[in-house]
Amino acid sequence: MQNRQILVTNALPYANGPIHLGHLLGYIQADVWVRFQRMRGHTVHYVCADDAHGTSIMLSAEKAAVAPEDWIEGIRQQHHRDFQRFAVDFDIYHSTHSVENRELAAALYQQLQQHDRIATRSITQLYDPEKGLFLADRFIKGTCPRCKAPDQYGDNCEVCASTYAATDLLDPRSTISGATPVLKSSEHYFFKLPEFADFLRSWTRSGVLVPAVANKLAEWIDGGLQEWDISRDAPYFGFEIPGAPGKYFYVWLDAPIGYMASFRKLCDERGLSFDAFWRDGSATELWHFIGKDIVNFHALFWPAMLQTAGFRLPTALSVNGFLTVNGQKMSKSRGTFITADTYFRHLNPEYLRYYFAAKLGPNPDDLDLNLEDFALRVNSDLVGKVVNIASRCAGFISKGFDGLLSVVDSEPVLTAEFRAAAEEIAGYYDQREFSKAVRTIMALADRANAWIAERQPWVLAKTAPQSPEVQAICSVGLNLFRLLMIYLKPVLPGMARQVEQFLQVAPLSFADADSVLLQHRIGTFTPLMTRVDPSAVAAMIEDSKDSLTTTPTERAVDSPLTREPIAAEIEFPDFAKVDLRVARVLDARQVEGADKLLQLTLDLGPGADGASVQRNVFSGIKSAYQPESLVGKYVVLVANLKARKMKFGWSEGMILAAGSGKDIFLIAPHDGALPGSRVT
Ligand code: 2FM
Ligand code: ZN
Repeated sequence: MQNRQILVTNALPYANGPIHLGHLLGYIQADVWVRFQRMRGHTVHYVCADDAHGTSIMLSAEKAAVAPEDWIEGIRQQHHRDFQRFAVDFDIYHSTHSVENRELAAALYQQLQQHDRIATRSITQLYDPEKGLFLADRFIKGTCPRCKAPDQYGDNCEVCASTYAATDLLDPRSTISGATPVLKSSEHYFFKLPEFADFLRSWTRSGVLVPAVANKLAEWIDGGLQEWDISRDAPYFGFEIPGAPGKYFYVWLDAPIGYMASFRKLCDERGLSFDAFWRDGSATELWHFIGKDIVNFHALFWPAMLQTAGFRLPTALSVNGFLTVNGQKMSKSRGTFITADTYFRHLNPEYLRYYFAAKLGPNPDDLDLNLEDFALRVNSDLVGKVVNIASRCAGFISKGFDGLLSVVDSEPVLTAEFRAAAEEIAGYYDQREFSKAVRTIMALADRANAWIAERQPWVLAKTAPQSPEVQAICSVGLNLFRLLMIYLKPVLPGMARQVEQFLQVAPLSFADADSVLLQHRIGTFTPLMTRVDPSAVAAMIEDSKDSLTTTPTERAVDSPLTREPIAAEIEFPDFAKVDLRVARVLDARQVEGADKLLQLTLDLGPGADGASVQRNVFSGIKSAYQPESLVGKYVVLVANLKARKMKFGWSEGMILAAGSGKDIFLIAPHDGALPGSRVT
């Protein structure tokens, strides 16, 4: 088999909100494909970055009172952390706000100019005179010109579904400042996309897209392409257009160039050839994994830009559909707008990787995460079928044979059948037919279980735990299990790693399906995966309701590099009303049924009668503290806060802490302060 050289990219998420399960669908799809190709011995470079530019990001940073550079770096780190938690294993996770991208964007743009593909003309747009900003449609609200519904966005009405120009809205206002927008003209730069219609018509039909996507594009191309506005006026967070002071590249101009920029940085780090992947496409492949909402950018503007600037064209675009949860659009009120972070706090990421893989195909179909089906499927397939094979066989080999597998394969026909499935399964993975791969693997798992059940090694082992037959049956079982894990490894890399340790083998690749383990000593079996706990699923939903009452943009204020804006000024007497006291934690315990709370008993020192004054306080610090670690600690209590009735009882005050999530830090007095002392 020839070694393929593949560069894979995933769509670059905006540096403006948390990664959620909808995002993860496309990333997990790409990661599984990358892992599979590597297991086949191909060379894959897998790159991504945060998409860091644009007005929304600029405004979010402003709202959080931090520099945009700090804002985007904080989010970039959060995003990267989330991807790593889900084993989405990029070789590099860069940013579009990088030196590499600035240079490449300028170079590409220069090529577009030199080839006379840029036009300039003045356009008139709505402008926020207070904020000094041109307003995109999503920053304008007003009354629908058709049905008169109030509070509709600048491009379409959610009530009567009509579409219109923002200038047609009645009583328009800027959602940023509330000001009434005015019309203002400015010079814009356009990419002459219509000149590429013939090229795009043939390129989109050249096998780079599945027919469903190519058909959609044909509709757009035949409907007439428009020139693409690639400039934005200052103030804008992005790259200034060379030779055009005060004009910036629109975020979507430099976003896909960010793929190149990330790879450029990887080349610098690893000594790879940039040109081998971007100039000359004859010996390498370039795959973009994207969502169906951004097909126009990747299948129209992007190839036209690459072609003009003398770069190679993508080998393929892999397009995924949207994620629904329990049959509906993800919703904050239903608790189904689940962030990667919230999921991770409750459930094993490999459950999700498996569920997605079990339902994914090459077409951009929407995928439903039905949470009941999710639990059933993971429990029945992974725990009930796959792990079950190993847990049924491993103990007998360890106990009766000191971990040694038999010298010969006593069931070569069955083993050969499992081995022969490698090619069929590999073909499915390669074609992104993951659901077919998973179905084939699970059918094999059923066969392995049936075979073991028929042989009943546990019955034999009762009377003769060291009989060669027990060893033979369990060795076959473990070899079948090993083959299944080879096939599942692209989907379940974490579990595969544990299996490699348990079997004491080198990292498994597809070629390992050619062999079986004979007279090989295995390690100790430890449970590889537990069943999905329905209460964890319920808690995740509950947490998603709690934590996402704000918009994703506002939530991004969680970034450790950002801080809450300082609250409105107060007078000293207002502050003096707050009675802060040193308190000592006498007891701390979990609260049954509470996701965030710990129950604390606090000692406030002796009261008038000499007895210890105690308070019961519920505090939302469970994510950061083990109750045992708190006993004896000193904290600061807001002692005169009116007692509040909570679901779990009365809370008599609050203790002070900084931060949120896992980064909560209790505020403590220096050593020597006595319980009950007033904090002033
Ligand atoms: O739609 C989005 O989330 C964009 N940030 C995707 C950019 S993909 C690439 F072109 F950078
Ligand atoms: Zn309307």
